[in-house]
Amino acid sequence: MSSIPKLHDFAMRICAWHGEHGRHELPWQGGTDPYRIWLSEIMLQQTQVATVIPYYHRFLERFPDIETLAHATQEEVMPYWAGLGYYARARNLHRCAQVLMSEHGGRFPLSSEEIAQLPGIGRSTAAAIAAFSYGERSPIMDGNVKRVFTRFFGVHGYPGIRSVEQRLWALAEQALEQAPPELDMTAYTQGLMDLGSQTCRRGTPRCDVCPLASDCEAKRLGLQQALPEPRPRRPIPERQCAMLLLHGDGHVLLEMQPQTGVWGGLWSLPRFDSSQELVEACLAKGIVVPDAARMAGFVHVFTHFRLHIEPWLVEASPTIAEPLAEQRWVAFDELDQTAVPAPVRTLLDALPLGQAELRGG
Ligand code: ADE
Repeated sequence: MSSIPKLHDFAMRICAWHGEHGRHELPWQGGTDPYRIWLSEIMLQQTQVATVIPYYHRFLERFPDIETLAHATQEEVMPYWAGLGYYARARNLHRCAQVLMSEHGGRFPLSSEEIAQLPGIGRSTAAAIAAFSYGERSPIMDGNVKRVFTRFFGVHGYPGIRSVEQRLWALAEQALEQAPPELDMTAYTQGLMDLGSQTCRRGTPRCDVCPLASDCEAKRLGLQQALPEPRPRRPIPERQCAMLLLHGDGHVLLEMQPQTGVWGGLWSLPRFDSSQELVEACLAKGIVVPDAARMAGFVHVFTHFRLHIEPWLVEASPTIAEPLAEQRWVAFDELDQTAVPAPVRTLLDALPLGQAELRGG
């Protein structure tokens, strides 16, 4: 690709802006330990900084290094992720630590190319880890950075489409090729992330304080709201289930979710395709479910579908309801340390009964 005039000082403008206006005090900044940087980057995928910070501290306290994480069981890891969502991230994190132990001598490889081969680490995350840990000169292209590049260059088309994404990566590579050798990769990478999340915002971009505004194509044409183009809309499927909140003697019946599902590795409530199936399953165990046991329904939104949940609050003694192999009666005061999906946590927190009553007190 021939050089693009407006890219000649792109990276240095971002660095200078980051020095003055970027974030410098985040808990994962200032060090070069790839383990800590990797953990932060995985947690920050799809999740806001403010949400991540307490999880990050708790996780590191319990799993301070690759070895500790690799030697833990998945059961031990999941509670430290519960509530952050996108649980495949936690499963991959754990698997990745084990691969690092078995195939890389317990250390991160020294190039983004090798890092990108590890479980759960894509090209952009690998580049961010290598930039922050080793100063490697590789471009990133996460959701916020895509917004900066699509607007600055006036790139049309949904950035999730392969050809559009390839164009963005090529521009990001070009920006680095045209940058001077003294470019500080930590400042540039963090600056791009910060500019994307704080200034080149989705709904209300702050062009008045943007260091790129004078050369931004979207600004020139008034296309800030139109770019990046949204995903072509397909209706999101609606699904439905009934959940059984079976409790008695201070315990709640929970069920381990299959590894392959969206809640793999978490403890959830027994789930049925319909309320009728739930009621019949209870009856088969001799548990009568009165109409009054039905709680208010609600919707939980996943990336690919919306789940309508009809919860039922039913009381039965654990001695009557024998748990299935994948089920367990969990004491109510153990629930805080149990990894449960977010909507189940909401349900458990919103129980209409007092805790004393649930504890059998
Ligand atoms: N989002 C992804 N990586 C980030 C980082 N290092 N700092 C802030 N937000 C981020």
